[in-house]
Amino acid sequence: MEQYVIKGGNPLYGEVEISGAKNAALAILAAAIMTDETVTIENLPNVRDINVLLRTIEEIGARVERVNAHKVRVNGSFIQNVSVDNEFIRKIRASYYLLGALLGKYKRAEVALPGGCDIGSRPIDLHIKGFRAMGAQVDIAHGLVIARAQHLAGTHIYLDKSSVGATINIMMAAAMADGKTVIENAAKEPHVVDVANFLNSMGANIRGAGTDVIRIVGVERLHKTEYSVIPDQIEAGSFMFAVGAAGGDVLLKNVIPKHLEATTAKLLEVGCMVDEFDDAVRVHSGGSLHHTQVTTLPYPGFPTDMQPQMAVLLGIADGTSTVTESIFENRFRYVDELTRMGADIKVESNIAIIRGVEKYTGARVSAPDLRAGAALVIAGLVAEGITIVDDIYYIERGYEDFDKKLRGIGGQIEKISDDKDLQKFILKVS
Ligand code: UD1
Repeated sequence: MEQYVIKGGNPLYGEVEISGAKNAALAILAAAIMTDETVTIENLPNVRDINVLLRTIEEIGARVERVNAHKVRVNGSFIQNVSVDNEFIRKIRASYYLLGALLGKYKRAEVALPGGCDIGSRPIDLHIKGFRAMGAQVDIAHGLVIARAQHLAGTHIYLDKSSVGATINIMMAAAMADGKTVIENAAKEPHVVDVANFLNSMGANIRGAGTDVIRIVGVERLHKTEYSVIPDQIEAGSFMFAVGAAGGDVLLKNVIPKHLEATTAKLLEVGCMVDEFDDAVRVHSGGSLHHTQVTTLPYPGFPTDMQPQMAVLLGIADGTSTVTESIFENRFRYVDELTRMGADIKVESNIAIIRGVEKYTGARVSAPDLRAGAALVIAGLVAEGITIVDDIYYIERGYEDFDKKLRGIGGQIEKISDDKDLQKFILKVS
């Protein structure tokens, strides 16, 4: 099993290039099979979840040409099979996007119930409610969600919660339904807008993405397009917090500063400096960090996917901070690991009360999920001594070359496979 080994204490300096947004790219790849013409997608992040989805759409008959690590051509005209199930797709959350895409195009879909990170109960009742409102019959049997419709009809859907997944899924099915669909209380996340832009570039008629009312007029067919995925706001935010915690001065390239506003605001509150450019941000930090309060909220609020990284930063800020998680109920599983590194955090219900400590100390810890795994790496970059992070499989689901990019800005981190690699690393850094 591979691990990351980190020697903490180095501030970070230099430039880092942010990859395409995983969560936008997953939905876009699913939507790409909705046309029979060839779609070209660029700025794909080269991460495990994307590769699983590409392999899966290939398995059901789509032609996938990997032009290079970040560019792919997809042709969905050869799809024979609307049943999606394999041991890999069961583990990723975004498998559910194939429901909306296949149901929209073929009016039939069978997709394994989605997996993903264990951050709480993650129902898909709102997705199903949306499909049913459009006239589909949806059943769950043998671990699959089975949806079929004689024909899909546009309708009015109110989402009880502003769900990113449900908004995108309903938008995809509605793009090829008969008539007009209105989604109220829609999610406003940047990737919702990106998927709408992508579908529109294929000939869909979607208005209002980015607001809480999205209007979709169904079209009979979609056509070819070339599209570049937006930059990953969570990867960018993770690097921003790494610099905030470790100190230093780093320019992040290929970002949309507007998408990072909540992250930037929190960094400023704790005493870091952030300069915004057209498609870059510079973060510099060095002095002591101040305590603050943060609550996760749907966009444009502070993203739940940045919550563990924020907690790592506050763990070494002066005074007492609180982090309130309002989206998922089980997103503090990293706290025990961080405590092993010296953090002083008490969790009461959905609030973490964090008393800042002077420093973290290196320990062997395990990544409980994707974002918490990245947060533990950040803690390792700050900690005194050596940190070993197990279960980096989770981190590689969503961060492209995380170790390589961190090394590029001065982080002492290696991916290792065995004890020999570990000894080599220790010799190198001592
Ligand atoms: C997506 C992201 C994930 C991010 C989350 C919130 C992907 C693949 N994953 O997850 O990284 O943390 O958005 O920004 O893009 N809910 C229901 N019923 C549903 C759907 C959702 O009750 O049918 C609830 C969820 O339990 C949660 C809230 O709605 O409390 C938001 O979830 P949602 O936005 O759907 O998250 P995901 O699409 O799972």
